[in-house]
Amino acid sequence: MGVDKKILVIPGDGIGQEVTAWGQKVLMTIAENYKHNFSFDEGIMGHVAIEATGNPLPDETLEKARKSDAILFGAIGHAKYDNDPTLKVRPEQGLLKIRKELGLYANLRPIKLFDELLEASSIKPEILSGADILFFRELTGDVYFGEKKRTEDRNTASDLMIYHRYEVERIARKAYEAARSRRKKLCSVDKANVLEASRLWREVVQEVAKEYPDVETEHMFIDNAAMQLIKDPKRFDVVLTGNLFGDILTDEASQIAGSMGMLASASVGDSTGFYEPIHGSAHDIAGKGIANPLASILSAALMLDISFGLKTESLRVIKAVETTLKQGYRTMDIANKHTENHLVMGTEAMGAKVLENLS
Ligand code: IPM
Ligand code: MG
Repeated sequence: MGVDKKILVIPGDGIGQEVTAWGQKVLMTIAENYKHNFSFDEGIMGHVAIEATGNPLPDETLEKARKSDAILFGAIGHAKYDNDPTLKVRPEQGLLKIRKELGLYANLRPIKLFDELLEASSIKPEILSGADILFFRELTGDVYFGEKKRTEDRNTASDLMIYHRYEVERIARKAYEAARSRRKKLCSVDKANVLEASRLWREVVQEVAKEYPDVETEHMFIDNAAMQLIKDPKRFDVVLTGNLFGDILTDEASQIAGSMGMLASASVGDSTGFYEPIHGSAHDIAGKGIANPLASILSAALMLDISFGLKTESLRVIKAVETTLKQGYRTMDIANKHTENHLVMGTEAMGAKVLENLS
């Protein structure tokens, strides 16, 4: 029996438009093949929303988001703002606000390498092979949301790194639950040798750990974690960390999966789930039709699994991506320089191959 779901698509900025189209097409194909009823609406956010309304997250988009069962998001940002830090209204504010408003406090970023991409990474294949990490990045606290200040003379600025016990507790529980259904190892990453917010973080994680004696807990400082991650990625199973450290570590970890263009993420919390690639708007390649649509397609797969409980359908999508890679098809970012039997193609052709393999 099919399910009825309302999905809001927010393509956002830059390559967001190009790649999200394929995430959506994959969802439509799954709906057709498995007799589900997915209805789609669209919303604006980011630079495109500022241009249209002056607001990076218009009320209308937020209203639509609240009414939907899940959201498929693309990317946010524009070079204009990156080059001018004095601009007050910024695209990223839209993304941060929607995360906060929807209570999306847990950001899951699975790092899994498709065997076919072993050679696409800048890290040696023997180090990478078999790596499988699930990041839990806290998403609605930390310096991202702490008080921001600038003195009147504009010469001094600060961002408050702040965590409350309940914020650490709720994400720690989610991470431990996930560790239980995996290899039962959890590494909590902080900077407790220097930061008070990290000492609270560690204290709370140590307490929650007592409820999960079957899971092996390890605490690691962020600087060491950044090093261990590329030295020996296989040592990690579930990694639990705060908003800022998680942002940085997961970009680094994308190299374990071959490319930023491969990584999907799920943000969950109180209600609606929010699914997005971890890559940004990549203005340098926007509009050229060469962006990798696989992260958006894999985000759709996460939505099917996590928000809709459609495990079979989700695995079907992942399988289709795997088959496409096995057939030798690559977008530019994952093309292997060492062998010639790869067919390098653009966004449209790659997306179409995945759809073909879904049917
Ligand atoms: C991410 C992005 C965002 C973040 C930016 C665009 C605000 O880098 O989702 O990782 O820092 O959270
Ligand atoms: Mg980031």
